[in-house]
Formats: sequence, C-alpha cells, structure tokens
Amino acid sequence: MNFVHQHILSVEQFNRENVEYLLDLAQRLEPVAKREVGCNVLQGAVLANLFFEASTRTRLSFGSAFARLGGSIIDTTGFTFSSMAKGESIYDTSRVISGYCDVMVVRHPEEGSVAQFGKATHVPVINGGDGIGEHPTQSLLDIYTMKKEFARLGKSSLDGMKLALVGDLKHGRTVHSLVKILSLYKDIEFVFIAPENLSIPDYIAALADNRGHKISYIDKPSQGLKGADVVYATRIQKERFKTGEVPEGYSGDFCINRQMINQYANDDVVIMHPLPRDSRPGSNDLHNDLNNDPRLAVFRQADNGIPLRMALFAAVLGVDKNIEENYRPLTWQSVKHYGVEDFQP
Ligand code: NCD
Repeated sequence: MNFVHQHILSVEQFNRENVEYLLDLAQRLEPVAKREVGCNVLQGAVLANLFFEASTRTRLSFGSAFARLGGSIIDTTGFTFSSMAKGESIYDTSRVISGYCDVMVVRHPEEGSVAQFGKATHVPVINGGDGIGEHPTQSLLDIYTMKKEFARLGKSSLDGMKLALVGDLKHGRTVHSLVKILSLYKDIEFVFIAPENLSIPDYIAALADNRGHKISYIDKPSQGLKGADVVYATRIQKERFKTGEVPEGYSGDFCINRQMINQYANDDVVIMHPLPRDSRPGSNDLHNDLNNDPRLAVFRQADNGIPLRMALFAAVLGVDKNIEENYRPLTWQSVKHYGVEDFQP
C-alpha cells in the first residue's frame, strides 16, 4: 500500500507489511517524540482536527504529533459550535474544510460517517473513531505498545500471543479494530471476557476464526486471565446503549484489580486499556490499585500515540523518507523522563 494521500478509515485496508511499515516508521520517530531532536518536516502543513464526540487523548495526541513535526492545527469540537448545528451536511462540511487544510482527522458518533467525509475531500481523512465502528489509529498504537513491551520482556514476536480482552466488547471500537489488526498476525489466542449482552460482534470473531486464530468466550475474568501475555481492559460504553438498556451482568467480578492480577495472571503480563478509565464507583473498570505496578502499561500506551500518529502523518503526506535528514537540535529542554516513570517497580 502506498500511503500517500490515502484515507485511513479502517484497519481492513492494511496487510501485515503495511502495519509493520508504520510501526517501524513510528520507531524511527521516537527521538522526535521524546524531544531529543526536532524535525520540522511538516512545516507549513495544516491539520484540521474535527471531533464531534468527546475526546482527550486522541484529539490532543493527533495535534501534538502534527505540531512536533512542524505543522499547525485548526480544529472544531462538538456539533454545537459547528455549522452542522445549522443543518449542514457531512459532504458540504468536509468539502469546505478540505480547502483549509492538508489532512483531516475526524471523530463522529455514527459508524461509517468518517468514510462519508472522505468522499467529499481533496485531502486525506484519518478516522479518529466512528461510533461503534473502528478506531484504526488506536489499534496501531496498541500493537506498537505490545511490540515495545514484549521487547522489554525479551519476547520476540506478537505471533503466538494470548490476548485477554475484558469489558464492553460489543460497543468498543478499539477492540473491534484491535482484533481485526491482530488477525493479520499468526496463531493469536483471543479470549473474549464479557457478559453475553456485551459480547464481541459475531462478524469480528468470525474474521479471526477464519484466519485460523484460537477463540474462546469466558464470562469469568479470573479464568480468562490465566496465561495471558496481554490483558486489554475496556470501559463500558454507556453512551452507546439504547435508551433503557443496562450493562446486565457486568458485576464486580469484571473489575481487573491488583489482587486478581496477582492471583491469576502471569508475572510478566502487560495490562493495557485505551483509556479513559471510568473511575466512578460501580463502573467496575480497570482498578487504580494497579497504578504503581510495572505491569500496568496504560500510560506508556497513551505516550505511544505520539510517534505512531507522527508516522501516519508522515506516511500520508509523503515525508516518511525525509525524517532523519530534517533532524535539528532543540533550543529548549522540557521533560526529564519520557514514559519511564512507571517503567520500574
Ligand atoms: C476510546 C474511544 O474513544 O473509542 N478512547 C480513546 O480514543 N483512547 C475508548 C473509550 O472511549 O472507551
């Protein structure tokens, strides 16, 4: 796949080689992400960040990645302050904004809507999450994180890994993209841990199954965690429930906490979560009693959004071959450490 000027809408566009190319490119961009060197390879380019749904890390990390490559950002947040509140169509909005920018990142509550933005523009559109559909860049940064964590643990490949996915597997778009993208690898063992009403959509499980991966459905997390290389927890997506629908059966047993990890998981398990965690009482999301546990990779995972999103911008705007030659010394100093605070016990 030649990424230049391509929309990035779904991980179904990629083969394994494309994915590995982006992960390698992200690796090359680490010195820029870590603020060791500057690289203004996107100087003069403009990103339009269009977020019609709540976001913290996706919007800001796309913006930060673009700015660190020397580009500028224009943005709009929510429907209220956009002309969509006046009845403007996706087509018109997208066509107009394409005149103002070089690349667009769009998050929208309806599945398939970001693809509609893509139909109306002259510039590449990157899907920042379309309803319960997909979140391709999150899954790329997720497997980038797995590769980095595995390297730290002396594991050589994602092939053959066991991944336990916990939470709202029905509505969670990060999970949908992650299962699809990992299905490009070999001999993955997927353990889907959720009550029946929050189960992974059949078509996604079938895709993994058809590619020869091992699948199991478990409604008791403690059993599913055994032998897992990675535990990927997710939030209950209450905003996607139909009126009156409740997360039936999502009891305290699903709350991944220190006691459960110590008792059932491997000593070198990698604990991930796309964030945000729902910290409200009764949410049963990933517990914060794991915060100082080196196995908790969630903040390193969020940090990894920067090099990975830089890589995507560099690839779709055609500067991926020009990174190192554009290195320049930085004139300022910021962080003392980057993502290492929670690295050691
Ligand atoms: C996720 C999303 O928006 O799908 N967040 C993110 O982008 N990291 C997960 C979620 O909202 O639960």
